[in-house]
Amino acid sequence: MQRGPAACSAGPRLARIGPLRMLTLLLGVVVSCRAEFAPPTVNISLDEDPEVRWAPLTKVFDVDFLNKAAAEVIDSTVPKWVHHAVTPIVEAMEKYIPQPYAGEIRGMASHLGGSLSDVIILNFAYEISAFCTSIVAQDKNGHVYHGRNLDYPHPVLRNLTVNIVFLKNGEVAYRGTSFAGYVGLWTGQSPNKFSVSGDQRGSEHWWNWWKNVVSAFLFRRSPVSWLVRETLEEAEDFQDAVMRLSKIPIITGVYYIVAGVRAGEGAVITRERMGPADIWTLDPLNGGWYRVETNFDHWLPPPAWDHRRDAANKALNATGQAHINMETLYQVLSTTPVCNGITVYTTTMSTAAPEKYNTVVRPEGCTLN
Ligand SMILES: *[C@@H]1O[C@H](CO)[C@@H](O)[C@H](O)[C@H]1NC(C)=O
Ligand SMILES: *[C@@H]1O[C@H](CO)[C@@H](O)[C@H](O)[C@H]1NC(C)=O
Ligand SMILES: *[C@@H]1O[C@H](CO)[C@@H](O)[C@H](O)[C@H]1NC(C)=O
Repeated sequence: MQRGPAACSAGPRLARIGPLRMLTLLLGVVVSCRAEFAPPTVNISLDEDPEVRWAPLTKVFDVDFLNKAAAEVIDSTVPKWVHHAVTPIVEAMEKYIPQPYAGEIRGMASHLGGSLSDVIILNFAYEISAFCTSIVAQDKNGHVYHGRNLDYPHPVLRNLTVNIVFLKNGEVAYRGTSFAGYVGLWTGQSPNKFSVSGDQRGSEHWWNWWKNVVSAFLFRRSPVSWLVRETLEEAEDFQDAVMRLSKIPIITGVYYIVAGVRAGEGAVITRERMGPADIWTLDPLNGGWYRVETNFDHWLPPPAWDHRRDAANKALNATGQAHINMETLYQVLSTTPVCNGITVYTTTMSTAAPEKYNTVVRPEGCTLN
């Protein structure tokens, strides 16, 4: 497992050493950054029927915990009266959900013993509020690295984070990081082809959740995290992935960050519902050896209260192209406030070295500084 820089690695050591931790507390230092941990990994076989393929989740997660956690996420995202009001409507809409997601969601509800409408709501509740930082960078030898922080204001997601390896004929087709119960992907890698991360664009509110569902099922637009999964499953290479992620209609705007295997293969796609607003590629010959995307259009200044982009740019400049690699990219993603109080997990990947895919859960964010 990787360790973060001083800001995050002081915590775990102190937390393990009782007396030292006591001393730290006596000295009035708040140890708020406990041990990072690797999430569990499950194999999901795409050769199995969608309704049963997620069963392995119940081997690594306690079903009661998953149900409690799901209820918590729904309660904090969807007002109770809306929840009651939409339940029958959501159930009626189930028949509009395309395969394999319909089968997977139905299967998930039965593995977890929960209600079908709640699992559907959950899959759309996450869809509207992921804040993030994604970085694609290239070293002097043309190796491309991709990293992301996923920020979400709900602590229970830390215990729901899971690495998923999707298998076809017993081989790794693609992998990603998600939350137990959720069938889409915000982070993933197709080995030796490309990697993708998604960052929320603009701020959506719970009442838009509703528009998204209608848009998804009646107008047959893909939720943004389903398009990530489909692209990982189907695209041939970086170019093909960029094409699909740019053009296929989706239910809401988003940023897709894509990295490939060859020098120059890195891009930030700014998406509208129907197509790209902008495609910002690496330009290493002209000094553009990295691209940072948070949750704002890269050609506009971010709001004055949000310093993540500037902090990431500074940390990358300080690292330098000669020293960028998986480890230093992880350190950039651990810099405050790039990593912050609501950061759930950090993934670093480089699709040319697919086995190095690494996700670390940040138990209490990165608030120690
Ligand atoms: C996550 O799990 C740990 C250990 O099982 C537990 O101590 C912690 O309270 C859980 N956190 C949440 C937000 O559920
Ligand atoms: C997951 O699949 C891989 C590749 O087939 C295999 O090596 C590994 O043992 C599997 N892990 C589990 C827990 O089944
Ligand atoms: C990073 O370096 C680039 C190129 O030298 C420069 O244009 C940019 O202003 C620097 N950014 C920060 C935040 O230091």
